[in-house]
Amino acid sequence: MGLQKLYTAKQIEVMRAALNKDWRFIINHGAKRSGKTVIDNDIFLMELRRVHRMAEKEGVKTPMYILAGYSSKSIQNNVLQELTNKYDIDFKFDKHNSFTLFGVKVVQTFTGSIAGLGAIRGMTAYGAYINEASLANREVFEEIKDRCSAPGARIICDTNPDAPNHYLKTDYIDNHDPKARIISFHFRMDDNTFLSPKYIEAQKAGTPSGMFYDRSILGLWVTGEGVIYSDFDERSMVQPHISLPNGATVYCGVDWGYEHKGSIVVMADDQWGNTTLLEEHTAKYKEIDYWVQVAKDIQQRYGPTVPFYADSA
Ligand SMILES: Nc1ncnc2c1ncn2[C@@H]1O[C@H](COP(=O)(O)OP(=O)(O)O)[C@@H](O)[C@H]1O
Ligand SMILES: [Mg+2]
Repeated sequence: MGLQKLYTAKQIEVMRAALNKDWRFIINHGAKRSGKTVIDNDIFLMELRRVHRMAEKEGVKTPMYILAGYSSKSIQNNVLQELTNKYDIDFKFDKHNSFTLFGVKVVQTFTGSIAGLGAIRGMTAYGAYINEASLANREVFEEIKDRCSAPGARIICDTNPDAPNHYLKTDYIDNHDPKARIISFHFRMDDNTFLSPKYIEAQKAGTPSGMFYDRSILGLWVTGEGVIYSDFDERSMVQPHISLPNGATVYCGVDWGYEHKGSIVVMADDQWGNTTLLEEHTAKYKEIDYWVQVAKDIQQRYGPTVPFYADSA
């Protein structure tokens, strides 16, 4: 059977990288139902076999591996039940919910709360699979990473997008230092060619534009307003009161819109090279008179010579 029958093009790309690249982290992030978990589940099985071979060479009898998810239920639904359905694997749990597969002891831990630390504290793991990683409590996430200290240990993550300043985005996905050996793949709903076009069409039409659409369909890390700048950090970049420094240059940007929103922004550049967004006026279905009034108000406040840079439309 051709690979295309088994996997989407995106999943094949991930599988090739998993097999051929030297990595410590593989992070698959993006849209809902885009095929992330299906490929991660298969890499997880491959990793268990690899761990078994590695440990055997080192004379380690029972290597340990961490299977992490938000809750017991989410691991069951997203990972274990899927593997049972696909490969008929019959998991036999011990009294701590651990199981042994391909000669590797798999310890489950729940990342939804700090209590998840207890399950893995002190352990040396040969790897981890973290499902829905953006939902993980950061301390638990860091502990899982630190526990993966056996030689050659690797970590698989899958996640839906969150805000662009989420630690998983800023500290892991955006970390391109080759020494960190993090590879990541971005999935869109359109990448999942196993979904029926009718389903995708209905999802697209039935999802409100802005954050919901950008995250669920396009798989982008955006904030509530649909902001895409990955460096944007609300905590350090938003101030409740701004006093305009002396000598700052004020100017406006105009993006005309009616059905889509229209917007006029007021910006200021100070002498130290900082740019501040002072005002934002955004509205739908407003006639030209409305926008002329907004512009005149701005002139009242910042002087008649403040320039407006307008989109040609
Ligand atoms: N390689 C595949 N072969 C068959 N069906 C697939 C494949 N990849 C994804 N699917 C289908 O798409 C659904 C969503 O995939 P999943 O990996 O669970 O998405 P995500 O984790 O991105 O939400 C699966 O439940 C399955 O029905
Ligand atoms: Mg998933």
